[in-house]
Amino acid sequence: MLPLYPLLALLGLAGASPAAHASPFDKADALADCLSKSGVPTDALGTDDWKLDVAPYNLRLNFTPVGIAVPTTPKHVQDAVACAAKLGVKANAKCGGHSYGSFGLGGEDGHLTIEMDRMNKVVLDNTTGIATIEGGSRLGHVAWELYNQGNRAFSHGTCPGVGVGGHALHGGYGVSSHTKGLAVDWMVGATVVLANSTIVNCSATENPDLFWALRGAGGSMGVVTQFRFHTFVVPQKLTFFVGAMQWPTQERALVGMQAVQDFAQSMPPELNMRLFIAPRFINIEGLYYGDSATLTATLAPLVKKINATMQLVQEGGWLDQLKHFGNGVTVDQTHPYNFHETFYSSSLYTNALNDTQLKSFVGYWFNVAKKNKRDWYVQIDLHGGSTSAVTKLEVDATSYAHRDYLLMYLFYDRVDRNVAYPADGFATTQNFIRNITDGMGNRAWGQYINYPDPNMDQITAQANYWGTHLPKLQAVKKAVDPGDVFNYPQGILPA
Ligand SMILES: Cc1cc2nc3c(=O)[nH]c(=O)nc-3n(C[C@H](O)[C@H](O)[C@H](O)COP(=O)(O)OP(=O)(O)OC[C@H]3O[C@@H](n4cnc5c(N)ncnc54)[C@H](O)[C@@H]3O)c2cc1C
Ligand SMILES: *[C@@H]1O[C@H](CO)[C@@H](O)[C@H](O)[C@H]1NC(C)=O
Ligand SMILES: *[C@@H]1O[C@H](CO)[C@@H](O)[C@H](O)[C@H]1NC(C)=O
Ligand SMILES: *[C@@H]1O[C@H](CO)[C@@H](O)[C@H](O)[C@H]1NC(C)=O
Ligand SMILES: *[C@@H]1O[C@H](CO)[C@@H](O)[C@H](O)[C@H]1NC(C)=O
Ligand SMILES: *[C@@H]1O[C@H](CO)[C@@H](O)[C@H](O)[C@H]1NC(C)=O
Ligand SMILES: *[C@@H]1O[C@H](CO)[C@@H](O)[C@H](O)[C@H]1NC(C)=O
Repeated sequence: MLPLYPLLALLGLAGASPAAHASPFDKADALADCLSKSGVPTDALGTDDWKLDVAPYNLRLNFTPVGIAVPTTPKHVQDAVACAAKLGVKANAKCGGHSYGSFGLGGEDGHLTIEMDRMNKVVLDNTTGIATIEGGSRLGHVAWELYNQGNRAFSHGTCPGVGVGGHALHGGYGVSSHTKGLAVDWMVGATVVLANSTIVNCSATENPDLFWALRGAGGSMGVVTQFRFHTFVVPQKLTFFVGAMQWPTQERALVGMQAVQDFAQSMPPELNMRLFIAPRFINIEGLYYGDSATLTATLAPLVKKINATMQLVQEGGWLDQLKHFGNGVTVDQTHPYNFHETFYSSSLYTNALNDTQLKSFVGYWFNVAKKNKRDWYVQIDLHGGSTSAVTKLEVDATSYAHRDYLLMYLFYDRVDRNVAYPADGFATTQNFIRNITDGMGNRAWGQYINYPDPNMDQITAQANYWGTHLPKLQAVKKAVDPGDVFNYPQGILPA
């Protein structure tokens, strides 16, 4: 897919090729004119704001938009969408810009980017516990405000720069999710600009199909200008922990992984844990809703089986755990934000692996992945299982399709941010996944759009991310965006 993009950009900027009429860049002037006449703020090409807003988290996937709108009101969003739709330009909301496929930029050249991150107001109603959050807020800012305004929170991922937009519209799993569910599970309503530029509310009782579709595939349905989330009062005492394992042989790793997945099936709801596999270390890490003595007792049988050495068992309050899992980055992140990496990612959900599957996982890890000299890791969240809050809701409750799987894997293969990812690098991750899923039934596994594999074609991507929810999602998409204005290479196609 890659060779096409520079070509399109070239045609667009040159504007003289015989094929140029097919390029969205031919519409750049008309688009700028329409946005200007409607009073929509924009980034001018080449300005510092343009450079900041166009830089994706994943520098491997740089794309050039045909324009960048920077709304500060819902009306600006409506007008920006109207201009795009009128001119036949594809448009995408960008919130935190953390999509691994740079989908906030459209995932390819030539889209209108609707940069939402200037709209980041967070207001907590102390009496109802409902938080009103603008569609361009970052998770760290959200967490900071909810905590400071009323000692409250909802569950979500740990990176303070991630946008609530992409995160909560496609699932949102974090170190509280086994106890408290996904980010989507806390959403009670949203205000959305649709492809025909009307603005509507949705909730369980108002436009319920749209509300359902937003909670798992939101990026394809409209631009959320405002979210409403329910919240919980944060616990007084939490314990975060890291344990390190030495699994020198494949036999040892097999026994270790078996023990971890067995434990996952019945571990207490208060425990949130993941297995983290990197070239030079293997950890368990997580967050416990309780004190350190109870955590230690809870983990003791597992620790013994997997030969873990606890390196950190630290009690703290809500802010302490936010800082710990935010890796030292300032929690309260707003515009401007400027962190980046260069990587290829993919994901997987499975239930507990049987002996054959575990053997191929461990075999691939020891024989192939360990020879990969890049900075890779595999993170396996203990996502589902009978004790997880994620599994408490019906699979069909939201459009997030893979609630019922025990394990959620993120494969992350990183190079130095200033270095190009090698053209022959993808196979290491792809073969890792195929070695696990080979021989499994088609629907015995899934993938996570928030940990996308940007190299998949759209048909495969839709099937793997949305599974049995795809037909209904495509029907909702047809109702709200039949012309696919909010198109991106792995989004929902209208029925
Ligand atoms: C460092 C890092 C850590 C992460 N940690 C976790 C984690 O712990 N758990 C987890 O589940 N995920 C995690 N993720 C993945 C993250 O949840 C996704 O990348 C998410 O989609 C990013 O959202 P964004 O708004 O920052 O991205 P963007 O690139 O801005 O947007 C992503 C998608 O959402 C759409 N979108 C964004 N805002 C809106 C809106 N207001 N209305 C409509 N559509 C919108 C975009 O159009 C695009 O399709 C992490 C990512 C990174 C880079
Ligand atoms: C909300 O609650 C918090 C803590 O309970 C309190 O400090 C704060 O003043 C309250 N804010 C409002 C606006 O009532
Ligand atoms: C949506 O709901 C919000 C909050 O309940 C309200 O203020 C707003 O006017 C509603 N907007 C529309 C378009 O109905
Ligand atoms: C257990 O871990 C220690 C280091 O913490 C290591 O020396 C030892 O070999 C491991 N034992 C087994 C059986 O894996
Ligand atoms: C498993 O990995 C090996 C080594 O990379 C690869 O050659 C093989 O094709 C993979 N198997 C599958 C089913 O993808
Ligand atoms: C593991 O599962 C696969 C796929 O379902 C199956 O083909 C295989 O026989 C199973 N192996 C064992 C040891 O149960
Ligand atoms: C805009 O689209 C929505 C969803 O399809 C529809 O209900 C509404 O009537 C449309 N509004 C206008 C003005 O066309």
